[in-house]
Amino acid sequence: MIICANWKMHLRLSEALELCKEVQHYGNLIIAAPMPFLSLLSSNYSQIKLAAQDVSMLEQDEGAYTGEVSSYILSSANVKYAIIGHYERRKYFEENDELVILKAKNCLKQNITPIVCFGEAELGQDPISALEKLASNLPQNVYYAYEPYWAIGNKNANMEQAYNNLKKVIKYFTHSPQTKILYGGSVNSQNVKDFKNITGLDGLLVGSASLKINELIKIIEA
Ligand code: PGA
Repeated sequence: MIICANWKMHLRLSEALELCKEVQHYGNLIIAAPMPFLSLLSSNYSQIKLAAQDVSMLEQDEGAYTGEVSSYILSSANVKYAIIGHYERRKYFEENDELVILKAKNCLKQNITPIVCFGEAELGQDPISALEKLASNLPQNVYYAYEPYWAIGNKNANMEQAYNNLKKVIKYFTHSPQTKILYGGSVNSQNVKDFKNITGLDGLLVGSASLKINELIKIIEA
């Protein structure tokens, strides 16, 4: 099972280095660290697989685009994955599927695997309708992270509903053997065991629980 730690806008550099020191030997771990840490983490801990939390939508590799970071630049810092279209990017930066598709394609151009996030906004909505546009515009060799919006950062999320929806998502991809499926939304060391029995699930995207070393190790080891 792949565990992708999504650190969001958390941790100072010294804390990130400390955490990486403890988990560097876990081969199934991907760390999505804040952008300025990526290069240093890569040179200090060469075994750790790193993800960016975003990438530029521009198709240019380089240019006068202040603030943008292209997939070309990320790949030069040994970044192998990028989280794209996370709920928080959609909510606070108005990212939509069109933009997510552009960003994911930019990643693939540089052999960076996009971890494309999607999910339904409200409990009870169909998860597949949030997926169709993405899946019909992207090739099979991407990772999808199914993250129901209502389950992100919500200790009281209805996990039963999340499991049921996740099974629908897995079924949707039955004929896409190259596609990997992750689940994200309130995963912690208590509920991680429930995901182990879901056939076809390749990994978990973990937010707040990935910031505490003991909690993260318990999740990886589970
Ligand atoms: P959470 O975040 O684990 O804190 O719910 C998951 C995510 O936003 O990717």
